[in-house]
Amino acid sequence: MKSHLDFIPQKYTQKLVEKGKFQWSAPSNIALVKYWGKKENQIPANPSISFTLNNCKTTTTLEFEPKGFTSENFSFDLFLDGIPKEDFKPKMQKFFERIAVYLPFLKDFHFTIFTQNTFPHSSGIASSASGMAAMAVNLMSIEKLFNPAMSDDYFWQKASFLARLGSGSACRSVKGSVVVWGENSSIVDSSDLFGVAFTEKIHKNFQCFQDTILLVDKGEKVVSSTVGHELMHNHPFAVQRFEQAHKNLAQMKQILIDGNLEQFVALVESEALTLHAMMMTSMPYFILMKPNTLEIINKIWKFRNETNIQVCFTLDAGANVHVLYPEEVKNEVLQFIKNELIDYCQNQQYICDEIGNGAQKII
Ligand code: DP6
Repeated sequence: MKSHLDFIPQKYTQKLVEKGKFQWSAPSNIALVKYWGKKENQIPANPSISFTLNNCKTTTTLEFEPKGFTSENFSFDLFLDGIPKEDFKPKMQKFFERIAVYLPFLKDFHFTIFTQNTFPHSSGIASSASGMAAMAVNLMSIEKLFNPAMSDDYFWQKASFLARLGSGSACRSVKGSVVVWGENSSIVDSSDLFGVAFTEKIHKNFQCFQDTILLVDKGEKVVSSTVGHELMHNHPFAVQRFEQAHKNLAQMKQILIDGNLEQFVALVESEALTLHAMMMTSMPYFILMKPNTLEIINKIWKFRNETNIQVCFTLDAGANVHVLYPEEVKNEVLQFIKNELIDYCQNQQYICDEIGNGAQKII
């Protein structure tokens, strides 16, 4: 089992790294078994598993230049779509603070961060997973300049480890199409410190799996994920929920191997509603679903009953609905979405995505 200390580098072999730049893209991901609740230092209270997405992603260019002097402060500028983004800086500052011990060169450089998302900024799709994953792989590219002999395994594992310190779910956006984060007895080498790619052969039913994201509400959330996680401390159902997530993950592993779509639908929808049930039973309690979220859920249930097409929904910490289905029924489901669901979306907006592979180096 790894310790976080394994990610504190030994002496670097290269002392001098000149100015330069890297560019990486990293995707968003959608959890099937949800992470909700955490301990100190971004350690999850329960294990989770997700499909990596393909189209919803963040591309980040990281320019770096030695400061030429030692200082105790981090130095960076941050641009979103080419425009300075002051309100993103505190989150990045916090990220740098959390990872500084693992990347001792951070204070020696000035960074210019250019970031852009393929999905609309205010779509209610969290950009923290893809954004933090894209930052983490960029930073690992710099560390590799200091340590050219670094193995690929170390590169990817530490990238996920760093991403986790930015945002928990970001560690599942680094590498692999199906990623597990959090120790679970059914997944060999699973870790609380980073995400691991699911190594079993996934049944063909899940290859090219589709995720159409219905943008129900693009407004600011009433309660942030960070606060929501916090409310799992002293939650009356926390112990049972964390136990349930362990069992559900073991069950999901078998479902992904066997290709049983009925079982998949039942487990994924139960996880989504359990996540929201945790929110509704927190103290203070809150509701992130909107009336249209429920309308869509009911329409999906009706459609599934009538057609026997195995399409299901899942939810993140928000009102948007992810509609999940096999590629084989893509035409039928997209037609159903256009006919019956888009009127429940803000400005009829939805995003077609599918299972992807993780971060990609561009420059
Ligand atoms: C509901 O990863 O956004 O999407 O670690 O505080 O940044 P922080 O939280 P975050 O939480 C995501 C929760 C979720 C479920 C999931 O993705 O597993």
